[in-house]
Amino acid sequence: MKIGVFDSGRGGAAVAARLSELLPDAEIICVDDHDHVPYGGRLAEEIIELADHALQPLFSVACDAIVIACNTATTVAIKTLRERYPQQVFIGIEPMVKPAASQSTSRRFAVFATPATLQSPRYNELKQTWAADCQIIEPDCSGWATAIEHNQTDSITVELTVQQVLADGADVIVLACTHYHWLKGRIEAKAGPSVLVLEPSDAIKNRIQSLLGQRLN
Ligand code: DGL
Repeated sequence: MKIGVFDSGRGGAAVAARLSELLPDAEIICVDDHDHVPYGGRLAEEIIELADHALQPLFSVACDAIVIACNTATTVAIKTLRERYPQQVFIGIEPMVKPAASQSTSRRFAVFATPATLQSPRYNELKQTWAADCQIIEPDCSGWATAIEHNQTDSITVELTVQQVLADGADVIVLACTHYHWLKGRIEAKAGPSVLVLEPSDAIKNRIQSLLGQRLN
């Protein structure tokens, strides 16, 4: 089985590494859009065209499925991509609003995401559908993907952001940008054991198995 993995930048490598562990027999092919990362501050139209262009190498090698390992590209572009390439199986990664809402006791949770994700109609639909009774805290994470891309994670004030969302009553933190995988250890360390930090890697395997189940068995 051939699985393509796409992200604007380094987030895809984290997802691909996890997928390789979970699906050791699969051939994982990773592409990114190094020249245009970050996507998170761009307009929707621009994100759609950049993602379409960056995905072309994966189309040409006939992947069984392409994982859009980018919350920004999924929430903004996957609908258009599915319309443009109806024969291609796409698996998106989108903010884990539903699991957060179902597991939050305080009914307050935080979503760490890019500005484009937070503004997208898809994300707002997820909030309306699954978390209408919750207060969702959306701190400014706008510089994070760039810093992670340049290996400058020390410049990110993650601990302060975590401290603020906890002070606002969050008992769940959703990592809704695959780049933030690289901050997960710091986020968990600051948040402590009573706070759930949600990240999508394991859910992707279940999604791939349900879509391509026959071929995996
Ligand atoms: N890794 C991407 C995501 O999951 C975003 C990074 C970017 O801004 O390009 O949203």
